[in-house]
Amino acid sequence: MKVLVTGGAGYIGSHTVVELLNDNHEVIIVDNFSNSNPEVLNRIKEITNKEFKFYEVDLLDEEKFEKVFKENQIDATIHFAGYKAVGESVEKPISYYHNNLTSTFILCDLMKKYSVKKLVFSSSATVYGMNNSSPLLETMPLSATNPYGMTKLMIEQILGDLYKSDNSWGIALLRYFNPIGAHESGRIGENPNGIPNNLMPYITQVAVKKREKLSIFGSDYDTHDGTGVRDYIHVVDLAKGHIKALEKFENETGVEAFNLGTGDGISVLDLVNAFKGINNVDIPYELVSRRAGDVATCYADSSKALKELNWKTEKSLEDMCRDSWKWQSNNPNGY
Ligand code: WQD
Repeated sequence: MKVLVTGGAGYIGSHTVVELLNDNHEVIIVDNFSNSNPEVLNRIKEITNKEFKFYEVDLLDEEKFEKVFKENQIDATIHFAGYKAVGESVEKPISYYHNNLTSTFILCDLMKKYSVKKLVFSSSATVYGMNNSSPLLETMPLSATNPYGMTKLMIEQILGDLYKSDNSWGIALLRYFNPIGAHESGRIGENPNGIPNNLMPYITQVAVKKREKLSIFGSDYDTHDGTGVRDYIHVVDLAKGHIKALEKFENETGVEAFNLGTGDGISVLDLVNAFKGINNVDIPYELVSRRAGDVATCYADSSKALKELNWKTEKSLEDMCRDSWKWQSNNPNGY
């Protein structure tokens, strides 16, 4: 298939492009580099030895974005592009709602105009809010505790209504748990701007001595060791889940949500100790107070993805720790 990948120069986007190219799909990347780096494109070519098309376009620029549809016979879209920092969304709600929602409206309008009705949307486990008990199921009630999470929840609702208005669409809503790790080559990986919000990039920056020590947010949660428990999933497993979602809707219509997680709950201390042991590096840390908005425990029931997408994770926690470290140690300052 010829697949449009919005945000394809980003962390999950670039790993998904690699898997698409490996599976001999044709890829068109659209990215404005607001949270990514042009060097990623060179690395994708290096890893896959495959060509792809690239347009430096902000999805909000409808005229420039329409050129992509005019110049390419697109079969399906994977929509990653969007702002994704929880804390930043609390400080800049209008920017988040405008960017994430308006870009999706423009994308859907152009897809409809050019008869592209297959869409895989990058959603998040954050739509389960604070009141559901793990393992989380797609049928559980949804809510949001921050503007970022609310944009994901609203876009899921919007895409559901789009399907109700036109049953010829095939739409997958992929709810990611905690993506970590990197391609085994160490040539692409997570490259956050500024101080990392997420745990693994912070750990790897401490390991490479870019940061002095890790602050562990909360050690008094009702978990096996008092620290937060999450479902860490290797970014390559996550990328492959997108391919499976494309395949499902290639000849089907409908709108379905899928959890993409391992189903295993790993605590912050579990991850720190695994990372230290596997990579034989030190990770100085201190236990500090909880971070506002964090839940104690969050992990997936991904049986629906196994049953309907024939997808399950294959990479281990060791793979995640080893691959994260290989990326960071080979690229201490990112791209
Ligand atoms: C994981 C655990 C922290 C940093 C977020 C978003 C979610 C998705 C994934 C986009 C928690 C602890 C973290 C640190 C720490 N993003 N931690 N010290 O919060 O589960 O999910 O990222 O879709 O939407 O909410 O991920 O990596 O920030 O935190 O102790 O410096 O690590 O308290 O228990 P989170 P995270």
